[in-house]
Amino acid sequence: MQTSSKMRTNTLKSNLSPLHLGLLSLAVACAAPAFAGGVTLQPKAGDPLLGLTKVQQGRFAAGRVSYMTPFGNATGLGPVFNKSNCQSCHSNPVGGWGSISVTRFGIEDKGEFYPLESLGGSLLQAFAISDPCRETIPEEATVTSVRVTNSSMAFGLIEAIPDAAIAANADPDDSNGDGISGRVHWVLPLEASPSSPLRAGRFGWKAQIATVLSFSGDATLMEMGITNALIGTENAPNGDAALLASCDTVADPEDTPDASGFTFIERVTNFQRYLAQPPQTPRSGMSGELVFNAIGCNACHVRDWTTSNSPALETAIRNKAIRPYSDFLIHDMGTLGDGVQDGDANELEMRTPTLWNLRTRDPMLHNGAAAGGTFADRVSAAIAAHGPLGEGAASAAAFAALSANDKAKLVAFLDSLGRDEFDIDGDRNITMDDFTTFVNCQGSTFNADSPCAIGDIDQNGVINLADMQGFLLAAQRDGIDTSLDCDNDGTVDLVEIFNGSPDRNLDGVPDDCAPCVADFDGDGAVLASDLAALLGGWGSPSFDLDGDGITGAGDLATLLSSWGACP
Ligand code: HEC
Ligand code: HEC
Repeated sequence: MQTSSKMRTNTLKSNLSPLHLGLLSLAVACAAPAFAGGVTLQPKAGDPLLGLTKVQQGRFAAGRVSYMTPFGNATGLGPVFNKSNCQSCHSNPVGGWGSISVTRFGIEDKGEFYPLESLGGSLLQAFAISDPCRETIPEEATVTSVRVTNSSMAFGLIEAIPDAAIAANADPDDSNGDGISGRVHWVLPLEASPSSPLRAGRFGWKAQIATVLSFSGDATLMEMGITNALIGTENAPNGDAALLASCDTVADPEDTPDASGFTFIERVTNFQRYLAQPPQTPRSGMSGELVFNAIGCNACHVRDWTTSNSPALETAIRNKAIRPYSDFLIHDMGTLGDGVQDGDANELEMRTPTLWNLRTRDPMLHNGAAAGGTFADRVSAAIAAHGPLGEGAASAAAFAALSANDKAKLVAFLDSLGRDEFDIDGDRNITMDDFTTFVNCQGSTFNADSPCAIGDIDQNGVINLADMQGFLLAAQRDGIDTSLDCDNDGTVDLVEIFNGSPDRNLDGVPDDCAPCVADFDGDGAVLASDLAALLGGWGSPSFDLDGDGITGAGDLATLLSSWGACP
């Protein structure tokens, strides 16, 4: 190894020592790692916010357990319900979106929607703790509509967006004439007294709920049949009170405080409020965002928001800049409307969904209509569904008219929403493939659309040791042992390779550490017997040393270069 790279290595080593200590506590606390140089890994989707106190981290963890724990008959499940825990629908990741949908039903009559509340509407509970209590879609229903599970990422941050900021984007009469007339869905939180001011709804496909606690109370009763402090009355199966009485054996409210004084709905609220915003990588953004803006996607999918600076909020939530790509307003989406009146949102009106973990999402749209295929297929289908009627029509048409190149750019940008740091190949796992690309980015200049930009965590335009520190943390977070140091020289193997040591078989161990890789028969030397074995396997994968998949000239060269007794 050359002197110059040794020196660089030493610089890194001194930076690394405090970092390794940090990692130990990190594994326990499950917080996102920070490293010298001032750059911090963005949390993965499903991880907690950065900057939570120990107490808050504990609440996040306990809330996550509650969110995943099934209720049973004895603890109050049902009598009618859809699932026994939150995570069984919000599964990707825990607290995220899911492919399970729920069904709404009602009657559409002369342009009015009636939710058939007296017959158990509008939400169908598809299961029951005993057969006689099972709910069915009543014959009277003329409208049924499905809603796919959406995600609770960063709900504390979204909750902390001031109502006035959301209202500032509303333009109910389209006074600026841009064809887009979003409006606020004003609602009363379940926990608020009836005389309190209405709040700007932001959660749910119709922005029908304003606070996380309200959604928790609502979902706990509606999806699981657990009566709680916010909704104390059970859903009668298809509205039948006698059936309810015969099936419901647990006294209300079923959700009561635990030994530490927290109710279930408080627990799951803590979890959802402390979920971090999903990552966006490269951090610099990509040129496809200019296309996104040029064709008017950003008129509804608004990027930048700042949370309230209220001292009542946790430090981790207060006064934070976030990029959810939503205006949280309801829009007339024409044929994309779900046909259901929900609060003040009519049959055609849908809330702009956040896009910040879009890349993992399958299916997309409230009815799950954009499903399967590639990410580009799903996105294209979702955009096409924004037209031909409704406020999204113009941007859908503009997308259809884009050149193939601009479409690809737009899709590549959307694919950066939810991408983990250093996940260059986008497979949601840091692997040697990502490392190899990352290492090869050294010395090259690149633009924001290059895979190299994903590895440039400090965004200074080059891949250098500071980025390598970030890579080690990301790799460690994904379960790679980054402490391996085959020659015990104090510089870990991955850093040696980053600094130029050859690793022809791409196993993460520098080749000079394994001079005897060609000692196939294990007799302590590379000799004629090994040469014969290699030649015998020529063209097959058996003696592949350089990682190209077959035994060939490169492998022969490695063998010959290590001829003789192993050191
Ligand atoms: C049967 C599946 C199912 C279960 C179980 C379930 N949810 Fe949901 N969840 C959904 C669906 C479907 C939606 C979209 C509903 C809508 O907008 O009307 C949703 C939406 C939400 C939202 C709003 C998300 C957004 O992006 O606006 C929150 C918050 C939420 N659920 C919390 C919970 C909690 C907490 C639990 C457990 C108490 C739970 N859910 C259980 C299916 C489920
Ligand atoms: C008029 C406001 C508006 C405009 C303009 C708009 N969208 Fe949307 N977008 C929405 C709404 C509302 C939905 C949810 C519709 C539904 O599922 O019923 C949505 C859904 C989506 C989804 C699916 C998200 C998910 O989680 O399921 C994607 C992707 C998307 N939009 C991308 C775009 C792109 C790209 C553009 C520009 C071509 C665009 N949108 C323009 C309002 C808009």
